[in-house]
Amino acid sequence: MFNDRKVSYSGVQPSGNLTIGNYLGAIRNFKTYSDRYKCFYCVVDMHAITVRQVPAELRRRTYETLALYIACGLDPEINTLYVQSHVHEHAELAWILNCFTMFGELSRMTQFKDKSARHADNVNAGLFTYPVLMASDILLYQTDVVPVGIDQKQHVELTRDIATRFNQLYPDTFTIPEPIVVSTGKKIMSLADPLKKMSKSDENLNGVVFILDDKDTIIRKFKRAVTDSDTEIRDAEEKPGIRNLINIYSCFTGKTVPEIEQEFKGVGYGDFKIAVGEACAAGLEPIQTRFKELVADKAYLEAQMKKGAEEAAWYARRTLGKVRKKLGFTQV
Ligand code: TRP
Repeated sequence: MFNDRKVSYSGVQPSGNLTIGNYLGAIRNFKTYSDRYKCFYCVVDMHAITVRQVPAELRRRTYETLALYIACGLDPEINTLYVQSHVHEHAELAWILNCFTMFGELSRMTQFKDKSARHADNVNAGLFTYPVLMASDILLYQTDVVPVGIDQKQHVELTRDIATRFNQLYPDTFTIPEPIVVSTGKKIMSLADPLKKMSKSDENLNGVVFILDDKDTIIRKFKRAVTDSDTEIRDAEEKPGIRNLINIYSCFTGKTVPEIEQEFKGVGYGDFKIAVGEACAAGLEPIQTRFKELVADKAYLEAQMKKGAEEAAWYARRTLGKVRKKLGFTQV
């Protein structure tokens, strides 16, 4: 809570091109929070280096992620949009919280288990303590709510445990944050493998639709979407491919599942896939236009980054100062 306003905090990694999964699952819903909360949106470049990055690409994507936030409707005059590494308090609090997080807790994190299997040659300590840095992001701003995709809920729950533990030892330090699982909680799945979450780091790019894909690419990817040998467009557990397409169509058109089933009664899978592709392309078009204008204006983006970092640091310093005092750190 700051000045009687509840705080909402969320972050997106600049480590890869953002997908419609990121958009529908998280970013799209961000702007609805601006009315109710004081919102912070962070480009988490420090989280990104837990896996190897090409420096020029990390830099480019950091700008692009910020541009995308703005293009998706987040007004930088109302929301605090900033880059994680510009506010060094994140790293500082992360160290402190590392000392209040248990090895066993981190070992149980699903994402750590997945990522260490995928990057077996680079299971570094940062990958392991990734959720502690995330807890620092959240707790520095005395956050009340954290809008995240379903896959990040476990990390927010760990954040609550860390904050509760800290508060038991040092009362009234942190606000205990609440995860808000955005969208219907339905994950957007890969078009190539509808049992797997659509992920920007997937090797099979046919299954992944990026926010910045052009219309032809989008339609082509949807045309190739893996479905089943049935013919009926119906939302059912045993039809994960069709279920995923219905969900995507619903997200872009606002139509409900029964409405969609009705609309496509008797329609073949081929035509349905094209309809989903078209709805997706149409939904993304205004964002893409604005995004292109923004990335062409580096000076504007840099000015926004600077302003965001200054705003964020003001809040972060307050919390870190309090933490240092409670711990017994000296101040000169
Ligand atoms: N770990 C999140 C993800 O990969 C990104 C993130 C970092 C985040 N810090 C955060 C999300 C704080 C919410 C709040 O999606």
